[in-house]
Amino acid sequence: MQWYTGNTFYDTALTFGFVYAALIFVGSFFGTAAYGGRFGGGKKRKGIKLNSKVGWVVMELPGLLVFPIVFFQGANAWQPVPLFFLAVWMFHYTNRALVAPLLMRVQPGSESSFALNVVIAGWLTLLLHGYFNAEYIAELGSHYTVDWFSDPRFIIGLAIYLFGFTLNVHSDYILRNLRSKNPSPDEPRYKIPYGGGFKFVSCPQYLGEILSFVGFTVMTWNFGAVFVLAMTVGNLVPRAIYTHRWFHKTFPEYPTERKAIIPGIL
Ligand SMILES: NC(=O)c1ccc[n+]([C@@H]2O[C@H](COP(=O)([O-])OP(=O)(O)OC[C@H]3O[C@@H](n4cnc5c(N)ncnc54)[C@H](OP(=O)(O)O)[C@@H]3O)[C@@H](O)[C@H]2O)c1
Repeated sequence: MQWYTGNTFYDTALTFGFVYAALIFVGSFFGTAAYGGRFGGGKKRKGIKLNSKVGWVVMELPGLLVFPIVFFQGANAWQPVPLFFLAVWMFHYTNRALVAPLLMRVQPGSESSFALNVVIAGWLTLLLHGYFNAEYIAELGSHYTVDWFSDPRFIIGLAIYLFGFTLNVHSDYILRNLRSKNPSPDEPRYKIPYGGGFKFVSCPQYLGEILSFVGFTVMTWNFGAVFVLAMTVGNLVPRAIYTHRWFHKTFPEYPTERKAIIPGIL
């Protein structure tokens, strides 16, 4: 992987990006992002809060916008390999920013749980994600010739990406179906999920998201994707550990053999 690209602005910004990712990782152990009921995003929290669906769409929108804007200014934007990565990126963020929030089932009375500071932190992160990757893939990277489609890193990375994405979407589907389509206020907000990746870990949706970005990193072989991966791990590993403990505290009958996020290990 190419650490120095020769573009001083890009290299400096990426270095600061990694410092930011390390701070997020350490900070996540002291408090998880305030959205969703079990993370303190509910009524007790002060400040401006958005409804979950709106919060997700607004927060994730830069994921759909920044990448193509930067990408189409790149000299290699119309080459097949960069265009393929553009398609993967848009596919991933269309699910995250539009499909998943629109399918989400919100418990009545819990609508306004998405704190504005979470949205703003999300924008900053997605701005960096989009810039680092689009700028490298469409402009600075020199290995994205058509031969890259037969490189083992591309093939293995794509396979990991597809596995991770499927695990993420399937786990989100199981969680979604724990609630009825139009939940009544007296229906329990949380239940124990079973099946799929939940046989092994409490947060297969987060494991799937992390694996997606492992795959994206391997198939693009660039430090911009390592940055996205570092941010995702920094966010989701502490969140999974918190969720795992919360499940055990909330449900005495919670399956004891499940780990938090890495089957058999963590
Ligand atoms: N790339 C990243 O850095 C990043 C960061 C965050 C999230 N994500 C991804 O975004 C997606 C959503 O993340 P999230 O943190 O909001 O996930 P989540 O906590 O799993 O919540 C997803 C939805 O399921 C509901 N839910 C969760 N546990 C439930 C249970 N035990 N019983 C009934 N309903 C339950 C939640 O309701 P409530 O809202 O009422 O709690 C919410 O509507 C995931 O796929 C995650 O991987 C990615």
